[in-house]
Amino acid sequence: MQERSSFSSRLGFVLAAAGSAVGLGNIWRFPYLAAQYGGGTFLLIYLILAITFGFTLMIAEVALGRKTGLSAIGAFSALNRKFKFLGILASIVPVIIFPYYSVIGGWVCKYLSVFITGEMADAAQDGYFTGFISQTGNPILWFSLFLGLTAIVVILGVEQGIERVSKLMMPILVVLTLFIAVYACTIDGAMEGVVYYLKPNLEDFSVKTVLAAMGQLFYSMSLAMGIMVTYGSYMKKENHLEKSVRQIEIFDTGIAFLAGLMIIPAVFAFSGGDKSSLSAGPGLMFITLPKVFDHMPMGRIVGIVFFLLVFFAALTSAISLMETIVSIVMDTMHCKRLTAGLSVLAFSFMLGLPSSLGFGLLGNITWNNMSILDIMDFVSNSVLMPIVAIFTCIFIGFVVKPQTIVDEVKETDGTFKAEGMFRVMIKWVAPWLLVAILVSSIATAMGVFTL
Ligand code: PHE
Repeated sequence: MQERSSFSSRLGFVLAAAGSAVGLGNIWRFPYLAAQYGGGTFLLIYLILAITFGFTLMIAEVALGRKTGLSAIGAFSALNRKFKFLGILASIVPVIIFPYYSVIGGWVCKYLSVFITGEMADAAQDGYFTGFISQTGNPILWFSLFLGLTAIVVILGVEQGIERVSKLMMPILVVLTLFIAVYACTIDGAMEGVVYYLKPNLEDFSVKTVLAAMGQLFYSMSLAMGIMVTYGSYMKKENHLEKSVRQIEIFDTGIAFLAGLMIIPAVFAFSGGDKSSLSAGPGLMFITLPKVFDHMPMGRIVGIVFFLLVFFAALTSAISLMETIVSIVMDTMHCKRLTAGLSVLAFSFMLGLPSSLGFGLLGNITWNNMSILDIMDFVSNSVLMPIVAIFTCIFIGFVVKPQTIVDEVKETDGTFKAEGMFRVMIKWVAPWLLVAILVSSIATAMGVFTL
């Protein structure tokens, strides 16, 4: 039997997991949700959930992987055969996310090309983004490009090369985001946006905000879909699990925070106080940032570098999504990487088409005002992921028992600082919170009540 390869150091694990975690979720999804759901209120709820709930779930998943040395499907059933279904359920999530993720990855490529060819001023115009995504062929072309690139990397198995590049890019991304954020905050009229983003306002509190923050947490940290279980299975016992998880969280949340600071104040500055643009949704980053770059000296260069970095961040996340699906197909169908890779590519292309067309040709297909892409996003983040997370909590809290995880975390040097919190969260708090979230999200979707 082949020995399972492992990360050579804790840093190796942290960087690989961060490569999966940091992506469009941080830069594209977080800011538009924060803008939509009350700024500071959303930010505060997100932070509280990240250090309690997100931390607990990530510890559980990584420990599960390291303990069993297996990826999701195997890991759950290795500890209890009856829970094999949970591994399967978790594996469905990336199948839904990957196609629409690549549609947005395509938008990033399009904007990169727009800045390279010097059409920045056009992109800064109102209506440019909507005009682009409502076309038929063009967005599909960019979507195919992004999907194809991801597939090439996964099929050739050259992730390591990409990971090396992204290790280099990540710190640059942090610095550049910080720089753009500082610039954006100094534009006339942006201060009001800074206040909106940083100051929690109790009136904005709603169950929907908690729901959105929770969905974003799963998404951003690549939780509830087996990815962190797989990464955990590559982690060595000498590496401190708790410290690594903390680092990934800080990194992931830090980038999301900066992305918000880069986009939300700018929305205020360019809308002349018209708050309706805050609810732009998925288009927010693409609508607002070109305006910031257009306003900035040397904006074109900054824009090129920025979209290039976002492209790499998106690519590493997309690779981890596709790799998960491909390895499941290889394991269950017993086929070669090439066959599995090509099938996943074809399937994801088909599944991504409706999301890409949902703003134009298929624009009349909506559900509760959500476009097809939004529906995919909703099904995975607000329905499937909470279900997977509920069962994970039950599995760990009541079947294999928290002690198993605690022991695994303590393998390295006998310490687990947040042990008390972990025990309480996984058994008594997280499952109930998740059930509440799931019920309310389904009820909202069914139109039973609106929160
Ligand atoms: N976490 C990634 C992001 O923030 C998205 C992702 C989700 C990647 C699930 C892998 C798995 O963009």
